[in-house]
Amino acid sequence: MAGKSREIIIKFGASRGRYLCGAGTLGRLSRIRSTRPAAALVDAAVARRHGRAIAEALGDIPRLSRPAGESIKTMAELERTYRWLARTGLPRDGLLIGVGGGTLLDMAGLAASTWGRGVAFVAAPTTLLAAVDAAVGGKTAINLDRLKNPIGTFHPAEFIAADTTLMATLPRREWRNGLAEMIKTAIIGSPALFRGLEARASQLMADIGTGDRRRPLADTTALPWRDWIAEAVGVKARVVASDPLEAGPRQALNLGHTLGHALEPLLGLGHGEAVSLGMAVAVRIAAARGLCTGRCAVRVVELLSACGLPVTAAPPPRAEVVRLVVRDKKNRAGEVRWVLPARIGKVELDQPVTVDDALAALAG
Ligand SMILES: NC(=O)c1ccc[n+]([C@@H]2O[C@H](COP(=O)([O-])OP(=O)(O)OC[C@H]3O[C@@H](n4cnc5c(N)ncnc54)[C@H](O)[C@@H]3O)[C@@H](O)[C@H]2O)c1
Ligand SMILES: [Zn+2]
Repeated sequence: MAGKSREIIIKFGASRGRYLCGAGTLGRLSRIRSTRPAAALVDAAVARRHGRAIAEALGDIPRLSRPAGESIKTMAELERTYRWLARTGLPRDGLLIGVGGGTLLDMAGLAASTWGRGVAFVAAPTTLLAAVDAAVGGKTAINLDRLKNPIGTFHPAEFIAADTTLMATLPRREWRNGLAEMIKTAIIGSPALFRGLEARASQLMADIGTGDRRRPLADTTALPWRDWIAEAVGVKARVVASDPLEAGPRQALNLGHTLGHALEPLLGLGHGEAVSLGMAVAVRIAAARGLCTGRCAVRVVELLSACGLPVTAAPPPRAEVVRLVVRDKKNRAGEVRWVLPARIGKVELDQPVTVDDALAALAG
């Protein structure tokens, strides 16, 4: 995990965000926070495990540590954050730094975009999922009761530091969640990343496996996480730059998510596990329609399995799936359109898929 950091410039409309990835990149925050008044919201689990690195990076700026997870994406936590920002007196030309996984960054980004009608945001993603997905693309959000992400803004971070050493303490389940999104990104736009993951599939399986043990992973692995993250971020950055406000092409990033969003609560799965099932179903449907080759489908399913992700499941009740798929805000007026793989590195948007097609492909 050691070595030089990688840099990616993320365009979002007229703005440019700088993404740095690699061991020790958290330290870069010390320079940024000294340029203007700053405050930081930190995932308490990360603060506990990486207190010294965080103290060095953040210095003496006001810091609020909160337990993260979906419970932080609430109106109550947003309000708590505003009250804390008021106490710290963060001015309109100030900077809010978020250090944590996708949940903390989603809420912190929303706070940054609304405090003082918008202060600059800096993100330090500490989960693999946040590094390859949530910290890139400018979407912020909180939940409302059981609705996921109905409240949010577009407010891209001006600087992102993805420090791979912090990820060493991630539970395996979180690695798998992140890997599902990384594989998704490879299918959407990077045959090289897909081949890289395939070539190390047996090591991925040994390292990540199917268990939920909390043994730190990254310390024991020689896998090129920094380069894989950089490649995945590059793909997402290209897609986002082509369509920042999700009018069209950005929908490619929903690969595996139409069914995944429904399966997540119905089967009690983690997000990445549900997206893995969604991608396995999508690629089987694509192969059956001749949109992609059978070989492509086999490669996708095998790579997901190698990462300890599920590729088949007993179908849940049809009516429940229909209800959740149609409710998903990404589907227009009840008409369900999917993203389907055409080959590794290319997807087709707007493909009609019925719930029956999907459930038939779920069993394998
Ligand atoms: N904004 C976007 O574009 C976007 C994209 C994808 C996902 N998301 C959102 O991201 C969220 C999921 O993010 P996530 O998967 O990072 O989950 P998370 O933020 O809940 O983090 C997972 C768990 O790991 C802990 N954790 C974080 N970093 C750690 C570390 N370094 N070591 C040990 N434990 C650590 C957290 O405290 C939490 O318990 C969802 O709410 C989703 O909606 C947003
Ligand atoms: Zn996702």
